[in-house]
Amino acid sequence: MTTHFFTASSLDGFIATDEHSLDWLLTQDVDPDGAMGYNAFVKDIGALAMGASTYEWVMRHEEGRWGYDQPTWVFTHRTLSLPDDADVRLTHDAVHSVHAEMLAVAGERDIWIVGGGDLAGQFADAGLLDEVWVQYAPVTLGSGAPLLPRRLDLELLEVARNRNFLCGRYAVVSEGTAR
Ligand SMILES: NC(=O)c1ccc[n+]([C@@H]2O[C@H](COP(=O)([O-])OP(=O)(O)OC[C@H]3O[C@@H](n4cnc5c(N)ncnc54)[C@H](OP(=O)(O)O)[C@@H]3O)[C@@H](O)[C@H]2O)c1
Repeated sequence: MTTHFFTASSLDGFIATDEHSLDWLLTQDVDPDGAMGYNAFVKDIGALAMGASTYEWVMRHEEGRWGYDQPTWVFTHRTLSLPDDADVRLTHDAVHSVHAEMLAVAGERDIWIVGGGDLAGQFADAGLLDEVWVQYAPVTLGSGAPLLPRRLDLELLEVARNRNFLCGRYAVVSEGTAR
């Protein structure tokens, strides 16, 4: 069972603008059934984790509908409103205990840390992040939400082009150290 951070990024390493906009990303051409695409990735995922900003973006973008079938843990210190008919759990527990709960429900399937980058870094700090998948869009943003604000050593496992995106899959080969 593998714990992945799968995300799109600008070329200069930001996954959203300072205002949490993904407009620069959603206008890009991508084939979700293509090389290293979303559809093949997500079918093996049994549990998700995300931070509060990512959750709030998903809720805004989907206008309150929930787009995931898998149980989802949302890291927050706040009482956020939850979607109807979805298994979404708010938590501020330690990442290792949440990861153990995720493993228990995921069964044979994998775990996806959706974002943001620091939450993925917290899992890496705990030695719980196995792979990083980055779909690089042909855009620079100059500033924004960081891709993975840690010092990590990674091994390049796979590369592909998917339409506008340069896609890389990396193994985490050492624990991160917070900057
Ligand atoms: N490009 C992509 O494919 C992609 C993928 C994922 C996300 N995104 C975007 O990237 C941006 C990421 O935002 P972000 O950098 O602010 O990260 P985030 O992880 O989405 O949200 C950060 C917030 O999560 C909560 N949090 C994080 N760790 C926690 C912990 N251990 N315990 C309890 N709460 C914790 C805190 O919220 P509170 O303390 O306020 O509750 C924190 O301020 C969003 O705009 C998202 O939409 C883009």
